[in-house]
Amino acid sequence: MGVAAVEHDRQWINVGFTDGSTERFLAWWLRDNVESGRHRDRGQRTFDVNLLPEIMIADVTHDADRVTVSFMPEGFDATFDETWLRRYGSNVPATGGVIPRPTLWGAELQRSLTFADYPSLTSDPMRLSRWLVGLRDLGFALVENVPTVPGSVMRVIDLFGYVRETNYGRIFDVREQPDPANLAFTKLGIGMHTDNPYRHPVPGLQLLHCLVNESDGGDTQLCDGFAVAETIRGDHPDAFELLTTCPVHFRFVEDGSADLQSRVPLIEVDGRGEVVGVRYNSRSIQAFDMAPDVLADFYRAYRILGRALHDPRAIIEFRLEPGQLLVFDNQRVLHGRSAYEGGHRHLQGSYADKDSLHSRIRILEAAR
Ligand code: OGA
Ligand code: ZN
Repeated sequence: MGVAAVEHDRQWINVGFTDGSTERFLAWWLRDNVESGRHRDRGQRTFDVNLLPEIMIADVTHDADRVTVSFMPEGFDATFDETWLRRYGSNVPATGGVIPRPTLWGAELQRSLTFADYPSLTSDPMRLSRWLVGLRDLGFALVENVPTVPGSVMRVIDLFGYVRETNYGRIFDVREQPDPANLAFTKLGIGMHTDNPYRHPVPGLQLLHCLVNESDGGDTQLCDGFAVAETIRGDHPDAFELLTTCPVHFRFVEDGSADLQSRVPLIEVDGRGEVVGVRYNSRSIQAFDMAPDVLADFYRAYRILGRALHDPRAIIEFRLEPGQLLVFDNQRVLHGRSAYEGGHRHLQGSYADKDSLHSRIRILEAAR
Protein backbone atom coordinates (compact mmCIF):
# COMPACT_ATOMS: atom_id res chain seq x y z
CA MET A 1 0.00 0.00 0.00
CA GLY A 2 1.23 3.50 -0.74
CA VAL A 3 0.37 7.09 -1.51
CA ALA A 4 -0.92 7.57 -5.08
CA ALA A 5 -1.79 11.27 -5.21
CA VAL A 6 -2.10 14.43 -3.12
CA GLU A 7 -3.92 17.69 -3.63
CA HIS A 8 -4.38 20.62 -1.29
CA ASP A 9 -5.72 24.06 -0.63
CA ARG A 10 -4.54 26.30 2.24
CA GLN A 11 -6.35 24.32 4.95
CA TRP A 12 -6.81 20.76 3.74
CA ILE A 13 -4.80 18.00 2.06
CA ASN A 14 -6.51 15.14 0.26
CA VAL A 15 -4.40 12.01 0.14
CA GLY A 16 -5.30 9.25 -2.30
CA PHE A 17 -3.92 5.80 -1.50
CA THR A 18 -3.09 3.07 -4.00
CA ASP A 19 -6.07 0.98 -2.85
CA GLY A 20 -8.36 3.75 -4.09
CA SER A 21 -9.26 5.10 -0.62
CA THR A 22 -8.83 8.78 0.25
CA GLU A 23 -8.44 10.67 3.51
CA ARG A 24 -8.37 14.38 4.26
CA PHE A 25 -6.12 16.04 6.77
CA LEU A 26 -6.41 19.52 8.27
CA ALA A 27 -3.33 21.80 8.19
CA TRP A 28 -3.65 22.61 11.90
CA TRP A 29 -3.90 18.94 12.79
CA LEU A 30 -0.85 17.94 10.73
CA ARG A 31 1.22 20.81 12.11
CA ASP A 32 0.14 19.87 15.66
CA ASN A 33 1.27 16.28 15.15
CA VAL A 34 4.66 16.59 13.42
CA GLU A 35 7.08 13.94 14.61
CA SER A 36 9.82 16.48 15.35
CA GLY A 37 7.45 18.19 17.80
CA ARG A 38 7.65 15.25 20.19
CA HIS A 39 10.36 14.54 22.68
CA ARG A 40 12.62 11.70 21.56
CA ASP A 41 12.42 9.76 24.82
CA ARG A 42 8.89 10.13 26.17
CA GLY A 43 7.00 11.19 23.08
CA GLN A 44 5.67 14.25 24.90
CA ARG A 45 4.84 17.19 22.68
CA THR A 46 7.45 19.94 23.06
CA PHE A 47 5.31 22.87 21.88
CA ASP A 48 1.79 24.27 22.15
CA VAL A 49 0.03 24.61 18.79
CA ASN A 50 -2.04 27.53 20.11
CA LEU A 51 1.06 29.66 20.39
CA LEU A 52 1.99 29.25 16.70
CA PRO A 53 1.08 31.83 14.05
CA GLU A 54 -1.94 31.19 11.78
CA ILE A 55 -0.95 27.97 9.97
CA MET A 56 -1.59 27.33 6.28
CA ILE A 57 -0.30 24.86 3.72
CA ALA A 58 2.23 26.25 1.22
CA ASP A 59 3.03 23.07 -0.70
CA VAL A 60 2.69 19.29 -0.59
CA THR A 61 4.78 16.60 -2.29
CA HIS A 62 4.73 12.82 -1.95
CA ASP A 63 6.36 9.56 -2.85
CA ALA A 64 4.93 6.07 -2.34
CA ASP A 65 5.67 5.96 1.41
CA ARG A 66 5.33 9.52 2.67
CA VAL A 67 3.83 12.93 2.28
CA THR A 68 5.89 16.09 2.81
CA VAL A 69 4.13 19.30 3.77
CA SER A 70 5.52 22.88 3.79
CA PHE A 71 3.73 25.06 6.30
CA MET A 72 3.30 28.85 6.05
CA PRO A 73 4.19 31.29 7.46
CA GLU A 74 6.87 29.35 9.35
CA GLY A 75 8.57 27.93 6.28
CA PHE A 76 8.62 24.63 8.13
CA ASP A 77 8.63 21.24 6.35
CA ALA A 78 7.40 18.00 7.88
CA THR A 79 7.13 14.45 6.57
CA PHE A 80 4.32 12.04 7.42
CA ASP A 81 4.53 8.28 6.90
CA GLU A 82 1.81 6.62 4.88
CA THR A 83 1.16 4.07 7.65
CA TRP A 84 0.87 6.82 10.25
CA LEU A 85 -1.57 8.80 8.09
CA ARG A 86 -3.73 5.72 7.68
CA ARG A 87 -3.68 4.97 11.40
CA TYR A 88 -5.12 8.39 12.22
CA GLY A 89 -7.37 8.67 9.19
CA SER A 90 -11.00 9.62 9.66
CA ASN A 91 -12.20 6.04 9.05
CA VAL A 92 -10.39 4.75 12.12
CA PRO A 93 -12.58 4.49 15.26
CA ALA A 94 -11.59 6.85 18.08
CA THR A 95 -10.33 4.58 20.85
CA GLY A 96 -7.63 6.55 22.68
CA GLY A 97 -8.17 6.35 26.43
CA VAL A 98 -11.48 4.51 26.02
CA ILE A 99 -12.30 2.01 28.77
CA PRO A 100 -14.52 -0.88 27.62
CA ARG A 101 -18.17 -0.57 28.58
CA PRO A 102 -19.01 -2.45 31.77
CA THR A 103 -20.55 -5.92 31.81
CA LEU A 104 -23.78 -5.35 33.74
CA TRP A 105 -25.01 -8.02 36.15
CA GLY A 106 -27.69 -8.96 38.66
CA ALA A 107 -28.37 -11.76 41.15
CA GLU A 108 -27.70 -14.44 38.50
CA LEU A 109 -23.99 -13.74 38.85
CA GLN A 110 -24.17 -15.47 42.24
CA ARG A 111 -23.79 -18.84 40.47
CA SER A 112 -20.42 -17.97 38.96
CA LEU A 113 -18.53 -16.27 41.80
CA THR A 114 -14.91 -17.34 41.94
CA PHE A 115 -12.01 -16.37 44.15
CA ALA A 116 -8.58 -16.00 42.56
CA ASP A 117 -5.58 -17.41 44.43
CA TYR A 118 -3.43 -14.58 45.82
CA PRO A 119 -0.02 -16.31 45.46
CA SER A 120 -0.85 -17.11 41.81
CA LEU A 121 -1.71 -13.47 41.12
CA THR A 122 1.68 -12.41 42.43
CA SER A 123 3.57 -14.93 40.26
CA ASP A 124 1.53 -15.25 37.06
CA PRO A 125 1.02 -12.06 35.00
CA MET A 126 -1.60 -13.76 32.80
CA ARG A 127 -3.75 -14.61 35.80
CA LEU A 128 -3.26 -11.17 37.24
CA SER A 129 -4.29 -9.63 33.93
CA ARG A 130 -7.48 -11.74 33.77
CA TRP A 131 -8.33 -10.89 37.37
CA LEU A 132 -7.84 -7.17 36.84
CA VAL A 133 -9.88 -7.22 33.62
CA GLY A 134 -12.67 -8.93 35.60
CA LEU A 135 -12.46 -6.17 38.20
CA ARG A 136 -12.65 -3.53 35.47
CA ASP A 137 -15.56 -5.10 33.56
CA LEU A 138 -17.72 -6.49 36.40
CA GLY A 139 -16.76 -3.77 38.87
CA PHE A 140 -15.54 -6.20 41.54
CA ALA A 141 -13.16 -9.10 42.07
CA LEU A 142 -12.50 -11.66 44.78
CA VAL A 143 -9.26 -13.22 45.92
CA GLU A 144 -8.39 -15.72 48.65
CA ASN A 145 -5.28 -16.98 50.41
CA VAL A 146 -4.24 -13.45 51.22
CA PRO A 147 -2.15 -13.75 54.40
CA THR A 148 -4.26 -12.89 57.46
CA VAL A 149 -1.53 -10.53 58.57
CA PRO A 150 -2.69 -6.97 59.31
CA GLY A 151 -1.73 -4.63 56.47
CA SER A 152 -1.86 -7.32 53.76
CA VAL A 153 -4.62 -5.36 52.03
CA MET A 154 -1.87 -2.98 50.91
CA ARG A 155 0.04 -5.88 49.32
CA VAL A 156 -3.03 -6.57 47.17
CA ILE A 157 -3.13 -2.91 46.12
CA ASP A 158 0.55 -3.29 45.12
CA LEU A 159 -0.67 -5.67 42.38
CA PHE A 160 -2.23 -2.78 40.46
CA GLY A 161 -1.72 0.61 42.03
CA TYR A 162 -1.35 2.83 45.06
CA VAL A 163 -3.15 3.37 48.31
CA ARG A 164 -5.43 6.40 48.35
CA GLU A 165 -4.85 7.75 51.83
CA THR A 166 -7.71 9.58 53.54
CA ASN A 167 -8.47 11.00 56.98
CA TYR A 168 -9.25 7.38 57.96
CA GLY A 169 -5.59 6.56 57.28
CA ARG A 170 -3.95 4.31 54.70
CA ILE A 171 -6.00 1.40 56.01
CA PHE A 172 -8.96 1.27 58.37
CA ASP A 173 -10.21 -1.43 60.72
CA VAL A 174 -13.81 -2.61 60.43
CA ARG A 175 -14.77 -4.31 63.69
CA GLU A 176 -17.00 -3.70 66.66
CA GLN A 177 -15.75 -0.75 68.69
CA PRO A 178 -16.79 0.56 72.10
CA ASP A 179 -17.62 4.11 70.93
CA PRO A 180 -18.33 3.61 67.21
CA ALA A 181 -17.87 6.65 64.94
CA ASN A 182 -19.63 4.75 62.16
CA LEU A 183 -22.30 2.05 61.88
CA ALA A 184 -19.67 -0.12 60.19
CA PHE A 185 -17.98 -0.40 63.59
CA THR A 186 -20.99 -2.09 65.21
CA LYS A 187 -22.68 -5.47 64.72
CA LEU A 188 -25.63 -3.84 62.98
CA GLY A 189 -26.46 -4.54 59.37
CA ILE A 190 -25.55 -1.84 56.85
CA GLY A 191 -27.76 -1.15 53.85
CA MET A 192 -26.41 -0.92 50.33
CA HIS A 193 -24.13 2.07 49.92
CA THR A 194 -21.09 3.55 48.26
CA ASP A 195 -18.32 4.73 50.54
CA ASN A 196 -17.38 8.35 51.07
CA PRO A 197 -19.79 10.06 48.65
CA TYR A 198 -18.82 13.30 50.44
CA ARG A 199 -15.37 13.19 48.79
CA HIS A 200 -14.35 14.74 45.49
CA PRO A 201 -13.36 12.55 43.78
CA VAL A 202 -14.78 9.59 45.70
CA PRO A 203 -12.36 6.69 46.16
CA GLY A 204 -12.47 4.76 42.88
CA LEU A 205 -11.71 1.36 44.38
CA GLN A 206 -12.37 -0.06 47.81
CA LEU A 207 -10.81 -3.18 49.29
CA LEU A 208 -12.09 -5.19 52.23
CA HIS A 209 -9.81 -7.92 53.59
CA CYS A 210 -11.15 -10.41 56.13
CA LEU A 211 -8.72 -11.18 58.95
CA VAL A 212 -11.13 -12.84 61.39
CA ASN A 213 -14.71 -14.00 61.01
CA GLU A 214 -16.09 -16.09 63.86
CA SER A 215 -19.44 -14.37 63.80
CA ASP A 216 -22.88 -15.54 62.90
CA GLY A 217 -24.09 -13.41 59.97
CA GLY A 218 -22.14 -10.45 58.66
CA ASP A 219 -22.52 -11.54 55.04
CA THR A 220 -21.43 -9.19 52.29
CA GLN A 221 -23.89 -7.99 49.65
CA LEU A 222 -23.04 -6.34 46.34
CA CYS A 223 -25.23 -4.67 43.73
CA ASP A 224 -24.32 -3.32 40.28
CA GLY A 225 -25.33 0.34 40.47
CA PHE A 226 -24.85 0.81 36.72
CA ALA A 227 -27.26 -2.06 35.95
CA VAL A 228 -29.81 -0.56 38.35
CA ALA A 229 -29.36 2.89 36.79
CA GLU A 230 -30.03 1.44 33.31
CA THR A 231 -33.17 -0.30 34.56
CA ILE A 232 -34.43 2.99 36.01
CA ARG A 233 -33.56 4.81 32.78
CA GLY A 234 -35.77 2.32 30.91
CA ASP A 235 -38.65 1.96 33.38
CA HIS A 236 -38.81 5.43 34.98
CA PRO A 237 -37.27 8.00 32.63
CA ASP A 238 -38.59 10.94 34.70
CA ALA A 239 -36.96 9.56 37.85
CA PHE A 240 -33.73 8.96 35.93
CA GLU A 241 -33.74 12.57 34.75
CA LEU A 242 -34.06 13.88 38.33
CA LEU A 243 -31.45 11.49 39.70
CA THR A 244 -28.93 12.57 37.07
CA THR A 245 -29.56 16.33 37.33
CA CYS A 246 -30.54 17.27 40.92
CA PRO A 247 -27.48 17.93 43.08
CA VAL A 248 -27.55 16.31 46.50
CA HIS A 249 -25.49 17.27 49.53
CA PHE A 250 -23.29 14.71 51.31
CA ARG A 251 -21.30 15.51 54.41
CA PHE A 252 -18.98 13.89 56.96
CA VAL A 253 -17.85 15.81 60.01
CA GLU A 254 -15.26 14.81 62.56
CA ASP A 255 -14.72 17.28 65.38
CA GLY A 256 -11.95 19.68 64.50
CA SER A 257 -10.33 17.44 61.88
CA ALA A 258 -12.67 16.91 58.92
CA ASP A 259 -15.63 18.61 57.29
CA LEU A 260 -15.96 16.82 53.97
CA GLN A 261 -18.79 17.88 51.68
CA SER A 262 -19.94 17.29 48.13
CA ARG A 263 -22.87 18.40 46.05
CA VAL A 264 -23.56 16.06 43.13
CA PRO A 265 -26.38 14.12 41.47
CA LEU A 266 -26.83 10.56 42.78
CA ILE A 267 -26.32 9.17 39.27
CA GLU A 268 -23.59 10.79 37.22
CA VAL A 269 -23.66 10.66 33.41
CA ASP A 270 -21.02 11.83 30.96
CA GLY A 271 -21.52 14.08 27.94
CA ARG A 272 -22.87 11.17 25.89
CA GLY A 273 -25.37 10.14 28.55
CA GLU A 274 -23.43 7.06 29.71
CA VAL A 275 -23.69 6.34 33.42
CA VAL A 276 -20.24 6.87 34.94
CA GLY A 277 -20.91 7.07 38.68
CA VAL A 278 -23.42 6.26 41.40
CA ARG A 279 -23.42 7.71 44.92
CA TYR A 280 -25.75 6.32 47.55
CA ASN A 281 -25.34 6.45 51.30
CA SER A 282 -28.27 7.00 53.65
CA ARG A 283 -25.88 7.74 56.52
CA SER A 284 -24.03 10.70 55.05
CA ILE A 285 -26.70 12.14 52.72
CA GLN A 286 -28.00 15.47 54.04
CA ALA A 287 -31.50 16.99 54.12
CA PHE A 288 -32.64 17.57 50.54
CA ASP A 289 -32.57 21.27 49.75
CA MET A 290 -34.12 21.38 46.29
CA ALA A 291 -37.08 23.65 45.55
CA PRO A 292 -40.37 22.48 47.12
CA ASP A 293 -41.97 21.95 43.71
CA VAL A 294 -39.46 19.21 42.83
CA LEU A 295 -39.18 17.69 46.29
CA ALA A 296 -42.11 15.28 45.97
CA ASP A 297 -40.91 14.07 42.57
CA PHE A 298 -37.36 13.80 43.86
CA TYR A 299 -38.45 11.65 46.82
CA ARG A 300 -40.32 9.41 44.42
CA ALA A 301 -37.16 9.07 42.28
CA TYR A 302 -34.94 8.59 45.34
CA ARG A 303 -37.20 5.81 46.62
CA ILE A 304 -37.21 4.12 43.21
CA LEU A 305 -33.41 4.13 43.29
CA GLY A 306 -33.08 2.98 46.92
CA ARG A 307 -35.56 0.14 46.49
CA ALA A 308 -33.99 -1.01 43.22
CA LEU A 309 -30.56 -1.10 44.88
CA HIS A 310 -31.98 -3.37 47.60
CA ASP A 311 -34.01 -5.60 45.25
CA PRO A 312 -32.90 -9.22 45.77
CA ARG A 313 -32.89 -9.65 41.96
CA ALA A 314 -30.02 -7.13 41.83
CA ILE A 315 -27.95 -8.45 44.73
CA ILE A 316 -25.31 -11.12 45.16
CA GLU A 317 -24.35 -12.25 48.65
CA PHE A 318 -21.46 -14.18 50.11
CA ARG A 319 -19.54 -14.57 53.32
CA LEU A 320 -15.97 -13.34 53.56
CA GLU A 321 -13.79 -15.87 55.37
CA PRO A 322 -10.36 -15.12 56.82
CA GLY A 323 -7.82 -14.63 54.01
CA GLN A 324 -10.49 -13.59 51.52
CA LEU A 325 -10.54 -10.12 50.06
CA LEU A 326 -13.07 -8.15 48.04
CA VAL A 327 -12.13 -5.25 45.79
CA PHE A 328 -14.77 -3.21 44.00
CA ASP A 329 -15.42 -0.09 41.96
CA ASN A 330 -16.83 2.31 44.53
CA GLN A 331 -18.27 4.55 41.81
CA ARG A 332 -20.35 1.67 40.47
CA VAL A 333 -20.85 -1.28 42.83
CA LEU A 334 -22.76 -0.79 46.08
CA HIS A 335 -21.94 -2.87 49.10
CA GLY A 336 -23.77 -3.80 52.27
CA ARG A 337 -23.51 -6.16 55.21
CA SER A 338 -26.05 -8.20 57.14
CA ALA A 339 -26.16 -7.88 60.92
CA TYR A 340 -24.05 -10.32 62.90
CA GLU A 341 -23.81 -11.70 66.40
CA GLY A 342 -21.60 -14.01 68.34
CA GLY A 343 -17.86 -14.12 67.74
CA HIS A 344 -15.26 -11.70 66.61
CA ARG A 345 -15.23 -10.20 63.09
CA HIS A 346 -12.38 -8.05 61.79
CA LEU A 347 -11.92 -6.64 58.29
CA GLN A 348 -9.28 -4.21 57.10
CA GLY A 349 -10.20 -1.78 54.38
CA SER A 350 -8.31 0.56 52.10
CA TYR A 351 -8.95 2.69 49.01
CA ALA A 352 -7.15 3.04 45.70
CA ASP A 353 -7.61 4.94 42.44
CA LYS A 354 -8.86 3.39 39.20
CA ASP A 355 -6.44 5.09 36.80
CA SER A 356 -3.60 2.84 37.99
CA LEU A 357 -5.78 -0.24 37.53
CA HIS A 358 -6.41 0.68 33.89
CA SER A 359 -2.74 1.49 33.41
CA ARG A 360 -1.65 -1.87 34.85
CA ILE A 361 -4.08 -3.72 32.56
CA ARG A 362 -2.62 -1.94 29.50
CA ILE A 363 0.93 -2.78 30.58
CA LEU A 364 0.10 -6.44 31.19
CA GLU A 365 -1.78 -6.74 27.88
CA ALA A 366 1.09 -5.11 25.96
CA ALA A 367 3.59 -7.56 27.49
CA ARG A 368 1.69 -10.68 26.34
C1 OGA B 1 -17.36 -0.34 55.29
C2 OGA B 1 -18.35 -1.40 55.14
C3 OGA B 1 -18.86 -3.71 55.40
C4 OGA B 1 -18.59 -4.89 56.25
O1 OGA B 1 -16.56 -0.43 56.24
O2 OGA B 1 -17.35 0.57 54.44
O3 OGA B 1 -19.27 -1.19 54.42
O4 OGA B 1 -18.72 -6.00 55.72
N1 OGA B 1 -18.14 -2.57 55.78
O5 OGA B 1 -18.31 -4.74 57.43
ZN1 ZN C 1 -18.86 0.70 53.24
